[in-house]
Amino acid sequence: MDLSARCRAAVAVVSALSAVALAACVPGPGAVRGGQGAAGLRDPLFPKLGNGGYDVQHYGLDLDYDPASGHLAGTAEITARATQDLSAFHLDFRGLTVADVTVDGRPASANRAGGELTVRPRRDIREGDRFRTVVRYSGVPETVTDADGSREGWLRSDGAALAVGEPAGSASWFPGNHHPSDKATYAVTVSVPRGLRAVAGGEPRAPRTEGRRTVQSWRSTEPMAGHLAVLAIGELRVETVHTPSGLPVVTAVSPEAEERAEPLLRRIPELLAWCEERFGPYPFSSAGAIVVPSGDLEYALETQSRPVFPLDRFDEPTLLHELAHQWFGNSVSPARWSDIWLNEGFATYAEWLWQADAGGPSVADRFVEAYGDDGNWAFPPAEPPGPAELFAPPVYGRGAMVLHRLRAVLGDEEFFALLRGWAAEHRHGTASTADFTAYAERRSGRELSQVWDAWLFGRGRPPLTD
Ligand code: TRP
Ligand code: ZN
Repeated sequence: MDLSARCRAAVAVVSALSAVALAACVPGPGAVRGGQGAAGLRDPLFPKLGNGGYDVQHYGLDLDYDPASGHLAGTAEITARATQDLSAFHLDFRGLTVADVTVDGRPASANRAGGELTVRPRRDIREGDRFRTVVRYSGVPETVTDADGSREGWLRSDGAALAVGEPAGSASWFPGNHHPSDKATYAVTVSVPRGLRAVAGGEPRAPRTEGRRTVQSWRSTEPMAGHLAVLAIGELRVETVHTPSGLPVVTAVSPEAEERAEPLLRRIPELLAWCEERFGPYPFSSAGAIVVPSGDLEYALETQSRPVFPLDRFDEPTLLHELAHQWFGNSVSPARWSDIWLNEGFATYAEWLWQADAGGPSVADRFVEAYGDDGNWAFPPAEPPGPAELFAPPVYGRGAMVLHRLRAVLGDEEFFALLRGWAAEHRHGTASTADFTAYAERRSGRELSQVWDAWLFGRGRPPLTD
């Protein structure tokens, strides 16, 4: 029997009227009850993102969207395991109105403050227990403007909607533990008016018609960080082809973008094959892409198994970049947001490699070009100073330079084995910069602090001889 159960038993035995016994059960320091899970995971760049005290295993999202009003109604079923005794816990959730919350089928109290939804279940949850939280909600989801001015969350444009969440926008459309370190599987079911399609990541179930609506489910059976969830709703043309090895490639494109996007969409299997040769087996059960009209989104994003592109960013290097993220950034995702160079530096280096293979400038030339670009020297790639610099040039260009320097020290064979090994070692997991430097040293049997000090952590531009 744990202390909290013993306490409840004492109350029952002594007498419900005994004020003394009740007072003894008020939680205090060294509390006899489960505590409240932390409101954030203290990420150095986003301290309130994510929540402590539990680990999500699965999200079941059931959504109903009305494009005319922009109204979304949702039920989120969140299956999690408690990592401590819990009397209350937080979910990241923004904007939408909560109708009710249950935990393991019993009504729970819910409080909102900023981007946090605090859930207090009727009974404490014991460490190690699995519990199921159901949140019913509705409203017009918010668009989030990030510190760098870019828009994410829920993006609406005539008759269509697009949900993306890097780094923090997923809380606009479903409650969850929205830090990349807590990955889970997903089942997303969406009801939209007939004639429209709803496309998410993962594998589709055949759409079904219910009266004047179309309902379709998507399953992501490999773990996914919340910021990599995507949902596109609109008059999308959806198509599935298979790679020679049988991997489904699901593409969705809005009619305005179709004609121009089609030739490159057809090349996804070829680009994937190139990535597999360099980085190892593709990490998910399906692949694909979503292309929306220019202006609906300002950047391309590597959403899991189904990256999303505005038409004006749908070009070969960007497609390769987002496909490379499926290995570096998605399957291996960052432990903290400040480890973002593990995503962007790697995906940028993949672009350099691809373009060199395709007859473009050599990787050495790209390195020299990046080295000469003052924008790449604003800060060390492993230490973005704040949320506004998460996607700044040093994370991309100088991040890629780190890898090129590493390659110079290790030689091609060892370097490419390291890239594959890194993707394999942390497949479907999370990893930090320290994990990477330790892995590179362990695997190569070399002391590499010169590379790290000068290129990864150093403040200034190191001489080219370092
Ligand atoms: N991670 C995206 C990429 O593939 C870029 C990205 C996400 C981004 N959010 C952004 C870029 C905001 C600029 C601004 O590179
Ligand atoms: Zn990227």
